[in-house]
Amino acid sequence: MRIGNLQLGDFFLPGRMMRWISAGVLAFSLGPFEARSQGKPVDAEGHQWWQHAVFYEIYPRSFADSNNDGIGDLNGITSKLDYLKSLGVDAIWITPCYPSPQVDFGYDVSDYENIDPMYGTLQDFDRLASQAQKRGIHIIMDFVMNHSSDQHAWFKESRSSRDNPKRDWYIWRDGKGENQPPNNWLSTFGGPAWKFDPPTNQWYYHFFYPEQPDLNWRNPEVEKAMFDVTRWWYKRGVAGFRLDAVDTLFEDPDLKDNPVLPGKNRYGDPNMQNANNTKLPELHDILRRLRQVADEHDAVLIGETWTKDIDELKLYYGEHSNELQMPMDFLFARVDKLSAPEFRKQIAGVNAAGWPVFVLSNHDIVRAYVRYGDGEHNDAIAKLMAGLYLTLRGTPIMYYGEEIGMTNNDPQRKEDVKDPIGRLGWPEEKGRDGERTPMQWNTAANAGFSKRKPWLPVPAGSSTHNVASELKDQESILNFYKRVLALRHQEPALLDGEYVALNEDDPNVLSYLRRYKDQAVLVVLNMSARKQKAAFDLGAQGLSGAKATTMLTTMKTHPKEVSLSSIALEPFGVYIGKIVK
Ligand code: NOJ
Repeated sequence: MRIGNLQLGDFFLPGRMMRWISAGVLAFSLGPFEARSQGKPVDAEGHQWWQHAVFYEIYPRSFADSNNDGIGDLNGITSKLDYLKSLGVDAIWITPCYPSPQVDFGYDVSDYENIDPMYGTLQDFDRLASQAQKRGIHIIMDFVMNHSSDQHAWFKESRSSRDNPKRDWYIWRDGKGENQPPNNWLSTFGGPAWKFDPPTNQWYYHFFYPEQPDLNWRNPEVEKAMFDVTRWWYKRGVAGFRLDAVDTLFEDPDLKDNPVLPGKNRYGDPNMQNANNTKLPELHDILRRLRQVADEHDAVLIGETWTKDIDELKLYYGEHSNELQMPMDFLFARVDKLSAPEFRKQIAGVNAAGWPVFVLSNHDIVRAYVRYGDGEHNDAIAKLMAGLYLTLRGTPIMYYGEEIGMTNNDPQRKEDVKDPIGRLGWPEEKGRDGERTPMQWNTAANAGFSKRKPWLPVPAGSSTHNVASELKDQESILNFYKRVLALRHQEPALLDGEYVALNEDDPNVLSYLRRYKDQAVLVVLNMSARKQKAAFDLGAQGLSGAKATTMLTTMKTHPKEVSLSSIALEPFGVYIGKIVK
């Protein structure tokens, strides 16, 4: 189990649970694209398309390999759109597929307005976009706005001379002395955050790898060029962006040293509070202006927002809801054990903050299947987690493979590690390869991902946990996901209803109502390894009914209805039912 070592308030402090820790009905009558182009709400509550949508993150290297070179590609994604549609996905977020030297597997962009040949061409992208549109699936691109690759033409110019017009597009400073960086800031990927560049005798700043120099967002030319990038993709049919590393856009102009904390991190560097190079207030001005551009295109902005608490998360929505529509709530993903009280607390918090965005895993976080699994009931727990984050008020972002119970496949030997931080921090930090393995489609060689040896090895569990096998098994995780997602799209209470916590003192069973007008859906989740009974008196909610009609349950008996005075749950059992009036 990868748990612990979490230090709130720090950005990107590697932890064991995850490596990136900040120390309906109406929708169906209005197709999503129609709704977007008119900028109209999709329901009577004024919700926008993205509030009814289920998002799905695709790591393109690992999703589907159409040309059998061992690496996934855009045509591969296009070939799986029917699968995604039938699963119940409304929007796909594709992590960077732009030209890149791939030092950070695409998060080092060398051209923001093209597709890396390993993933295909712009024509392939256009085909993907039009095929997705036909199916009512939106495309969200990743906007790597904090930094570019050191191979980007902008940086090549910038580093060429001190008086190059693009010099100030990046952050260059003199050192404190011979071999002395300008200050004590550390890269979140290990070592100093400054690299000396001999041709001009100055240091440049990189929060991530040295091959990822930070752009200078204080320079209006950078802002214009980067905003134009978003316009360029909007015109190509993109419905929004996931904004990478927004927390780190600005640095203190005086380069004040960061406070050093006791102890060392996984790279052997001193622990540090990134007080002067993360979450500076200036970043909100940029987000407000970026939002204006997005609004002109009726697009959605999703944030990679690592916040230490709800108050920090709230800031990302903007005082007048004029920044990010969808800042991800990592406080939810950070609940590191199956704990009804802990989840209850986080859900209440984010509901008070704004429209919640729930994430369980992503390409930087150990898969939920491993984090919450107890080794014995992992499949039941995977269903439990689906029963949770797909029935809450808010927008869920799934991670590819979550729906089939994909597990982490961490490298066993240092020489097998692909992710550079895994080599640097080995053996404590094994890198992120484990959560990025090829999607498991069937029982063929390489889990049907590719005919050639994939760039990362497929986990052994793929023989049972794969799309083809699970589609055939009515009790599979995949079929459970499909059912929850279908419910979610059909039930106005699940789409629009408020969240009402129930039995708040129950230490084991997390229960809530989703309440919309005269309808109420009850969700009961047993977060323990023991059988539990839950009883509900909904009088206080103005509901006099004594029964619920079953909509979806993992109960072996599959009762048509249950009495609210006694709902019996198996270990990690799920019950979802409609309150009968
Ligand atoms: C966050 C991305 O999710 C991660 O994969 C990447 O390494 C860093 N940002 C740097 O872009």
